[in-house]
Amino acid sequence: MEHKQLKVFPKSFLWGSASAAYQVEGAWDTDGKGPSVWDNFVRIPGKTFAGTNGDIAVDHYHQYPQDVALMSELGLSAYRFSVAWSRIYPLGNGEINQAGLDFYDRLINELVEKGIEPIVTLYHWDIPQALQDQYGGWESRQIVDDFVRYAKTLFVHFSDRVKYWVTMNEQNVFISHGYKTAMHPPGVRDEKRMYQANHHANLANAAAIVAFRSLGCPGKIGPSFAYGPNYSIDANPENVLAAENAEAFDAHFWMDVYARGEYPPQVWQWLVDNHLAPDVYPEDAILLKQGIPDFMGVNYYRTMTNAYNPLDGVGIEQMNTTGKKGTAQESGLPGVYKHVRNPHLQRTNWDWDIDATGLRIGLRRIASRYQLPVMVTENGLGEYDTLTDDLQINDDYRIDYLNEHALAVQQAISDGVEVLGYCTWSFTDLLSWLNGYQKRYGFVYVDRDENSAKSLTRYKKKSFYWYQEVIRSHGATL
Ligand code: NOJ
Repeated sequence: MEHKQLKVFPKSFLWGSASAAYQVEGAWDTDGKGPSVWDNFVRIPGKTFAGTNGDIAVDHYHQYPQDVALMSELGLSAYRFSVAWSRIYPLGNGEINQAGLDFYDRLINELVEKGIEPIVTLYHWDIPQALQDQYGGWESRQIVDDFVRYAKTLFVHFSDRVKYWVTMNEQNVFISHGYKTAMHPPGVRDEKRMYQANHHANLANAAAIVAFRSLGCPGKIGPSFAYGPNYSIDANPENVLAAENAEAFDAHFWMDVYARGEYPPQVWQWLVDNHLAPDVYPEDAILLKQGIPDFMGVNYYRTMTNAYNPLDGVGIEQMNTTGKKGTAQESGLPGVYKHVRNPHLQRTNWDWDIDATGLRIGLRRIASRYQLPVMVTENGLGEYDTLTDDLQINDDYRIDYLNEHALAVQQAISDGVEVLGYCTWSFTDLLSWLNGYQKRYGFVYVDRDENSAKSLTRYKKKSFYWYQEVIRSHGATL
C-alpha cells in the first residue's frame, strides 16, 4: 500500500542500464587499441575464474548496432558505458588513435538517434599498460596530467552529444583491490602505496571536473562510488561506534574528498598515526575544492553490517571484503570494526546481502551529508541464469530484486532526495572481472559457449519485458 502514496518519478528521470568497456567490448587489440592492465592481468594463471578474459567479452565492439537496437526495443532512456582509455591513447599519452574515437562516435550516434541518453564513464579500471610500465600508473602524480589530456579529448569530441559524464568508476574498489587485496591489477599489497595511488586518483577526478567546466561543456559530471551503507549489528554502543567508524573509513574517506574537497579529519589522523598518509602538496587542497561534482553517482549492491572488533573474533561470524569468511585480521580493516552477518537479510549465491531498504537509506545519507543530487549508476543482481530448451530465461529472482530496489529509489525521492536516474547493472550479460561468465547480470542473455554455433547470440530474458513495462509506465508498474 505504501507505494501508492509515493511521489511519481520526475519527468526527466533517466531509466538506464550500464556496462564497462572491458566487460563488453572484446576486440582487445583491434583497430590500434593498446593493451590495458586488465588485458595483461587476466593472463596471469589463477587470477580469474577458469582463466576467463575480456578478449572477446560479448563482442559489443562489433555487435553494438544490435545491442543498441535491443536497448531501443526495451525503451531505455539512458545507457551508461565506459570508454577504453587505451583505444583513444594506445600508450596512455602521445598519439591519438582516430579509429578508437570513431568507434565511440558510431556508438554515441546510434544511441542519440534512438533517443537514448549516453552516460559516459571516463575510467572503469582499464588504465593503459604503457602508463603502468612508464611510471607505475596511479602511483605517480604524472597520471593526473595524462588523465586530464584523455578526458579533454573526450569532452571536445563528444560533449555536443553527451550530457552526463562519470569520471571514476568505484575508485574505492579499484584502489583497494589493486593495492590491498591484490585481486585486481597491479596486484600489490601495500597500504602506504595504496593511499598514495588513491590520492592521485582524487586529484585526477577533481582535475577532470575542473577541465570539463573550463571548456564550458554543457551537462553534468561526477564520480560513481561503490556505496555499501554501514549498519551496526545491534544497539550496543560499542557496535554502533564501530559502524560509524566503518562508515568513516569505507565511505566518508572517499566521498568527502569528492563532495567537500577534503579528507575526513578522523580518518586522516588515523593515517598519520599509522604512517600511511599520502604526500599532499599545498596546491592539492585548492584543486580538490574546485573539483566538486554536479552529482554523486552511486553503485549500490548491498549494505555492510558491523561490530566492534576486539580482534578475538569470538562468537561472531565474520566476512572479509571478498565476502568469504575469515578473521578480522584477514579482512585488512583497521582494528576498530569488522563486517559481520546480518541475520535479517537473505543473501545471493555470491553471498551478498540483499537489501533494498539499504538503497533508500544510502541515498538519504548521501543527500543529507553532501547536499548533492544522486544518480544510481549501478544496481543489479549477479546470478546463474539458465537458458531453457525453448530458449527462455525465467529470471524472476532478478525481477524481484530490481523491482524492490527501483521502488526504494522512488521512496528516496519521496523522502526528498533528488535522484537523476537509475541504471541497472547490466544491459547484456557481460564478463565479471573475476567470475567469468557464470555470474550474469543482464536483461539480455549472451551465449558464451565458444563451442556452440550460437556463440554470442543474444536472448531476451523475462526481466527484459519487466523493465520494458516499468519504463513504459514511468515506474507506475513497480
Ligand atoms: C561494480 C563494477 O563497477 C562493475 O564493473 C562490476 O561488474 C559490478 N560492480 C558487479 O560486481
